[in-house]
Amino acid sequence: MPGDSMDKPNIVTCTAPVNIAVIKYWGKRNEELILPINSSLSVTLHQDQLKTTTTVATSRSFQEDRIWLNGKEEDITHPRLQSCLREIRRLTRKRRNDGVPCLDLSCLSHKVRICSVNNFPTAAGLASSAAGFACLVYTLAQVFGVEGELSGIARQGSGSACRSMYGGFVQWIMGNQDDGKDSLAQQVEPETHWPELRVLVLVASAERKPVGSTSGMQTSVETSCLLKHRAESVVPGRMAEMIEAVQKKDFPTFAELTMKDSNQFHATCLDTYPPIFYLNSVSHQIISLVHRYNGHYRDTRVAYTFDAGPNAVIFTLQQHVPEFVQVLKHFFPPETKREQFIKGLPVNHAALSEELKQTIGLEP
Ligand code: DP6
Repeated sequence: MPGDSMDKPNIVTCTAPVNIAVIKYWGKRNEELILPINSSLSVTLHQDQLKTTTTVATSRSFQEDRIWLNGKEEDITHPRLQSCLREIRRLTRKRRNDGVPCLDLSCLSHKVRICSVNNFPTAAGLASSAAGFACLVYTLAQVFGVEGELSGIARQGSGSACRSMYGGFVQWIMGNQDDGKDSLAQQVEPETHWPELRVLVLVASAERKPVGSTSGMQTSVETSCLLKHRAESVVPGRMAEMIEAVQKKDFPTFAELTMKDSNQFHATCLDTYPPIFYLNSVSHQIISLVHRYNGHYRDTRVAYTFDAGPNAVIFTLQQHVPEFVQVLKHFFPPETKREQFIKGLPVNHAALSEELKQTIGLEP
C-alpha cells in the first residue's frame, strides 16, 4: 500500500477484467469527454480470465511520467492517458482539501511509471482498452490513496472502460449533462447473481482490427442514419428489457436481445460510409451455427455477440456448455490459439445425437 518514504518508490499492482457488451456503445456526443449517444450494458468477466495487470510506481526521484504497454514504451502525452492522470491528481487534491485523509499532497508532484500487460491479444476487438484504462485508473487511485466513484475517470480513457470498474452486470448510463458528470457506470447485478451463465470466447483472428473503435464510431456518427435511429428509438427500450431479463435470469430473452443488438451494431457499421467490416467468414459461420443449434431445440440456448472485430463471444448456461463445445469443435477443430480460450473443457468429441448432427449439418 502507498506510503511516503523519501526516495523509495510506492508500488501498487492491480488487475481488471474485460467486459463484454450485450447492449453496445457505439457513437459519442462529445469526443473529448467521451460521452456516448446511448446507454449500454455489459457483463464483466472474472478476474482470472481475460484481464489487464497494471503496476504503478511513484517516486520523487522520477523525472517524468512514463508508460509501458505489453513491454513496449508508449507515448505518455496521449490525451486520454493525460486525462486519466490529470483527473486522478485533481481528485486527490480535492479530497485532501475537503479534509478526506488520503496521500500526502507532496506526492502529487511525484512522477509515475506505469507498466501494463494484457493476457490476451491487444486491439483485436477483445475489449483491451476497457480492461486497460479501468486497471490504470484503479491502480493510480490506489497509489494516490483515493477511493469512491472512479468510472467517470475511466470513461475518459476509453468509454467502455467505465463498465470494467464494476463486476457482474453493469450499465453505463449515458447521462445528459454537458460536463459528463452524470455519465457513469452502475452495477445492475453483482457477479454472484447468475452463476449458471457461461461465456466462451472464440478467437477467429488475433490480428489488430483494421478500423479502431474510436475512428469507426466517429464515421458512423457522421454518416449512418441507422445509428441515429438505433440510439434514439431502439436502445432506450432495449436497455429496460435487458435489465429485466438479467434480473429475472431469463436466458432466452437475454440471449435474443444480445444477438439482435450485436446484429444491429454490425448493421450500423455496414450503414457507415465507407462501410466498416468487422466480421469475417468464420464469424458468419458461427452466427448461422448458433441459429441452427437453437432452431433444433426450438429454444434459445446459445447467444453470440461481436464487438469491433471478428471474434465471437458466446453466452450460454452451464448445462449446455459440453454439447455446444462439441459442436464447435466439429466445425472448428482446435488449434493452439483457440485451445487456449476453451480451457478446462473436454477435448474428446462427445456423441451428439444423429438428429442434432443432421439439423446443424454435421458429417454423419
Ligand atoms: C464495439 O470503448 O473502445 O466494444 O470510447 O473510443 O475508446 P472509445 O471506444 P471503445 O468502444 C467499444 C465499442 C464496442 C462496444 C462496447 O464495448 O460497448
